Amino acid sequence: EAYKKEMAAFEGKTPEAVEAFRIKFLGTKGIVKDVMGGMKEVPNEQKKAFGLVLNEFKQFAEARYEELKAATATEGGEAAAGYDWSLPGDQIGVGTRHPLSIVRNQIVSIFRRLGFAVAEGPEIEDDWHNFGAMNLPEDHPARDMQDTFYISQNPDWLLRTHTSSVQARVMESQKPPIRVICPGRVYRNETVSARAHCFFHQVEGLYIDENVSFADLKQTLYFFVQEMFGKDVKVRFRPSYFPFTEPSAEMDISCLICGGDGCNICKHTGWVEILGSGMVHPKVLENFGIDPNKYTGFAFGMGVERITQLKYQVNDLRLYSQNDIRFLKQFTGAV
Ligand code: PHE
Repeated sequence: EAYKKEMAAFEGKTPEAVEAFRIKFLGTKGIVKDVMGGMKEVPNEQKKAFGLVLNEFKQFAEARYEELKAATATEGGEAAAGYDWSLPGDQIGVGTRHPLSIVRNQIVSIFRRLGFAVAEGPEIEDDWHNFGAMNLPEDHPARDMQDTFYISQNPDWLLRTHTSSVQARVMESQKPPIRVICPGRVYRNETVSARAHCFFHQVEGLYIDENVSFADLKQTLYFFVQEMFGKDVKVRFRPSYFPFTEPSAEMDISCLICGGDGCNICKHTGWVEILGSGMVHPKVLENFGIDPNKYTGFAFGMGVERITQLKYQVNDLRLYSQNDIRFLKQFTGAV
């Protein structure tokens, strides 16, 4: 009982003190062992009762040891290691949002305000969703416009070359009216340089309803660039060609970098191309059982890297995926 009292009163809170406790009571030459050794002298008929008492004593010592260890690990240990709880804490490095995430979120939020919902789909696609459904049958020369990575196990599988594949999946599963934007990563087999990369990010949009017109397309995209770049930005549409839209147009905005005076970004033209667009081709609507006599729609697609380049003057595409902290830190606080 005296030993028990001594153990209970033991105050050491440093690792060294707790180790001294272990050696004194539980060590190979410790008190518990010693008392246990006394068993030999106990007459046989008392051994059972004595054993119970000894066991209880041993368990008490072990429990107390665990208790002291736990206490040391919290307050005691830190006090002993010289912690001063009144000092202010260390700075915790908080990460920054990636510039592409910042700009993608801005694009998404502008279209959300116009009532577009966000749709996502797989990056590994089949030929139908990426090409066939988009009016690019096999052997269509326009397939060469987008150098495709194929998955070697199955010739039908590929890495999507545009997020039009997501539009295909939306038309497959929803009926008009449809109003979605599809942000996501896309892949093309291009040599990596400052101006091209084997993957990049797109936001594509699709709006299908009765009486959707080219004027709606223009107004929607004009609203978008004004929200994105400010009220002073000018736009122009140039006729273009995409197999999945007819008519098709590319949209340029006035160069924000040089204000039209001429610079490398706009190749001294004063204009920068930012997206492709057009009225959804009737064949595409038919592919999904949407009646082209009843419904019309427009679609558009833009590269997030390009928009980010214009917004933040990033002039080398490789910077986006090198994860260089000196680059990423420059976007601290941007949202
Ligand atoms: N899918 C086209 C591309 O990746 C962009 C686009 C989308 C063009 C929708 C027109 C309409 O280049």
